[in-house]
Amino acid sequence: MSENAVSNAAARPAPVPPPGMLPQEQLHALYEIAQVLNSITDIDRLLDRVMDIAIQTVDAERGFLVLSEDTDAAKLTVRTARNIAPEAAMSISDISHSIVQEVIDRQSGVLTVDAQADPRFAGSESVIFKQIRAVMSVPFVVRGKLLGAIYLDGKTRRAGFTDDSLAFLKAFSHLAAIAIENARLMGSLRDENYLLRSEVQRAYHFKEIMGNSPRMLQVFEMLTKIMNSDISVLLEGESGTGKELVARALHYSGPRRDKSFIAQFCGNLSETLLESELFGHKRGAFTGAISDKKGLLEVANGGTFFLDEVAEIPISIQSKLLRVLQDGEFRRVGDTETRKVDVRIISATNKSLAREVEKGVFREDLFYRLNVITIQIPALRDRTGDTPLLVQHFLNKHAAKSGQRVKKVTPEAMKILDGYHWPGNVRELENAIERAMVLAEDRDISPSELIIPRVAKPMGAAKTLKEYERELVLKTLEEMKGNKTHTAEALGVSLRWLHYKLAEWKIGVSA
Ligand SMILES: Nc1ncnc2c1ncn2[C@@H]1O[C@H](COP(=O)(O)OP(=O)(O)OP(=O)(O)O)[C@@H](O)[C@H]1O
Ligand SMILES: [Mg+2]
Repeated sequence: MSENAVSNAAARPAPVPPPGMLPQEQLHALYEIAQVLNSITDIDRLLDRVMDIAIQTVDAERGFLVLSEDTDAAKLTVRTARNIAPEAAMSISDISHSIVQEVIDRQSGVLTVDAQADPRFAGSESVIFKQIRAVMSVPFVVRGKLLGAIYLDGKTRRAGFTDDSLAFLKAFSHLAAIAIENARLMGSLRDENYLLRSEVQRAYHFKEIMGNSPRMLQVFEMLTKIMNSDISVLLEGESGTGKELVARALHYSGPRRDKSFIAQFCGNLSETLLESELFGHKRGAFTGAISDKKGLLEVANGGTFFLDEVAEIPISIQSKLLRVLQDGEFRRVGDTETRKVDVRIISATNKSLAREVEKGVFREDLFYRLNVITIQIPALRDRTGDTPLLVQHFLNKHAAKSGQRVKKVTPEAMKILDGYHWPGNVRELENAIERAMVLAEDRDISPSELIIPRVAKPMGAAKTLKEYERELVLKTLEEMKGNKTHTAEALGVSLRWLHYKLAEWKIGVSA
């Protein structure tokens, strides 16, 4: 439609359109509305716009808009409302609910200019309804699919509630329905795209970290969320669970990936040595400090610093670290000059750092700086189904390293591996696999190649007390040729006890 047509239409009295057709101005308004609606891709903003335009054009007092849910088309949710509480809008007792339901069921509009006299609404006791005169509601339908409906009402007889405006509202709701459908589609494409992208990123950056168990999927989800950020992360988990592996993956997938990753083990070091490692020292600061030395924090400048076994850091060094985290400032041992560094801190511990704070051996303020995000790395025994995956991973990894063929693990051996409680976690499993590969020479890996400490059964070594008990009783019984009285005497137990045991083992002995 041209600008001319519009101004002409405005200048002369509008020709009366044939019944069922919209006048020029309304067509123009629809054209403009369509453009506005199609430019909004965010569904909530779009619904707000649709609501406002509808209220304005028919001069309504109250209104709301319902959409059916993606997952359940029969379920309607109030998505936006004006001068009416969303809960009240679709409460079963309210007339608005039954009107919208009628519109939805019949997929056609409803208009009433005198609701109190309308036989359709007779019997409605609601106080609010007693004040309502004009009601209008139309469905949102696109390509025969019902998306929802819009409801409008007013207390007085209202100029905008006419058959003409109903026709207008129908045309408008048709345009709105198309825009809503598009925005929904865009939204789901956006979500899908986001998911696919984070999947790809995850697959790329965390591909060294094996795991498919629910606990590990949680870890991956968290890692993916924080991978592009710079925040301090605390990794808590038992020894050998993969804390350092995760720390590296976070560094190499994050914004500092082009700078260095430096790890410092903080346990088992003297206070002076640790301090000098972290912050560096000035020549002569202590015996053996023969020249100025840069600390590792400086070396890591711009990159990531991994504080391994962070719970072991002595209190005096904790306060110096706090300063690094707060202001990026530190001093070399024996130096007066204050230096600046910019490092991202990832720390790890196999203790509960919160408990160390409670015990008074770890500074609370430092704890809060370190654990902006805490990730619990699960123990292998809590990672249901991950053992076979890790076994295969290590078979491939070590075969590649030693140029061997990739060995298989017999089902019996896999059962043992899967059933063991792995106190040393993934590291212990990896060692067991590497050792078994050597022991198996050119064979596949069977139970006899599995040297797993504390696992009694498969190795045929230690027995449980109960097993010894049973064996001893049966042997004595045999020696006594089945005589229970003699057997009990020889064992120093009561006859009653012996009967009880034999019953327990379901052994019948003829006297
Ligand atoms: N999910 C995993 N997928 C593949 N390899 C893993 C996984 N978790 C750990 N590993 C491997 O297990 C070994 C131990 O991991 P890592 O050194 O990261 O553990 P840690 O938690 O830092 O242990 P510690 O507390 O003893 O320092 C490494 O060789 C690592 O590559
Ligand atoms: Mg470690």
